[in-house]
Amino acid sequence: MAYSVVCLPGDGIGPEVMAVAVRVLTALPLEVDVSEQLFGGAAIDAVGSPLPKETLAACRRADAVLLGAVGGPRWDGGLVRPEHGLIDLRRELDVYANLRPAIGEGVDLLIVRELVGGLYYGARGVRENGTVFDTCEYHPSQVARVARRAFELARGRGRKLLSVDKANVLDTSRMWRNVMNEVAKGYPDVELRHGLVDSVAMQIVMNPGSFDTLVMENTFGDILSDVAAGVTGGLGLAASASLGDSGPGIFEPVHGSAPDIAGTGAANPAAMLRSLALFLDHGLGENELARGVEAAVTVALDQAPTPDLGGTGTTQDFADAVLSYLTAEVAR
Ligand code: NAD
Ligand code: IPM
Ligand code: MN
Repeated sequence: MAYSVVCLPGDGIGPEVMAVAVRVLTALPLEVDVSEQLFGGAAIDAVGSPLPKETLAACRRADAVLLGAVGGPRWDGGLVRPEHGLIDLRRELDVYANLRPAIGEGVDLLIVRELVGGLYYGARGVRENGTVFDTCEYHPSQVARVARRAFELARGRGRKLLSVDKANVLDTSRMWRNVMNEVAKGYPDVELRHGLVDSVAMQIVMNPGSFDTLVMENTFGDILSDVAAGVTGGLGLAASASLGDSGPGIFEPVHGSAPDIAGTGAANPAAMLRSLALFLDHGLGENELARGVEAAVTVALDQAPTPDLGGTGTTQDFADAVLSYLTAEVAR
């Protein structure tokens, strides 16, 4: 049976990098049924909502969701924001574990970002006196499930897990730490340590090679994954996989819609293609094809580097380099 993949190109460079991913996906020796749905700012413009009902229904039915990026200055200040569509989609699909690898010279770390709780999803509002609030909330069961996922992942890597928190200040962090220690009892082969988020941020900059697997709250993971991307070549390279227990995962680059370069042909599609490789790995178990796509990206990074990497390659040049490697080495 064909795998069904829903693509959500979104806004800015989202459609530009998605076009490359679809070209690559359909060139692979796989039976895939690829469909595209409205999402983000493009969906606000077309139907007034960043996550239309039809889009959500199609995502639920799919084996996987590939996402480009959403947002941009056009929709800033509007009542509904493109980003809300993404926040809602993650919650609806309950993809609580967001895997954000950062790989570079002497660096191979994996951030496991809790994705459907914490500061992004707690109570929020405006008080009568004008005070605006967002709150960080977790139930221990939400922490336990992402902890188990992180321990499993650490077990398949260097068997070292660093749990990142702000336990010197926050109650949610103290509970997070306790739950991590409890869950650790089931994984005696994995070494668990705890670190405070401010000092971990500094250490990722100073000594990124010292990290293996990290697990943390949603907002901490949002910020530290951009930091980790920054020390391993930038956002043009950073991929992610958002996974639940069952149902489709979302495979999405760490970067946004890059309005500063949208439409110029300068978008680096490597992050999107590496997200496609994560889909082949974690979504389909097609590990060999995933290695093939990764190898093709490595070749293209050498042959047609984009301006973010100091090169002069266009998105199209990069895509052509990937495709010619794949047709020679991997494709049907
Ligand atoms: P951004 O990630 O879009 O861009 C940050 C910088 O990195 C820019 O200079 C951009 O040109 C560069 N960059 C990012 N991706 C690149 C790529 N593939 N190739 C080359 N250069 C790349 O972050 P921002 O500018 O702060 O945010 C822009 C919009 O994107 C905002 O509306 C934000 O909310 C949204 N956003 C969306 C997602 C998502 O959809 N998953 C993620 C982050 C930000
Ligand atoms: C990311 C993005 C999103 C996030 C935004 C666009 C909602 O920054 O995927 O890192 O904060 O999770
Ligand atoms: Mn982010």
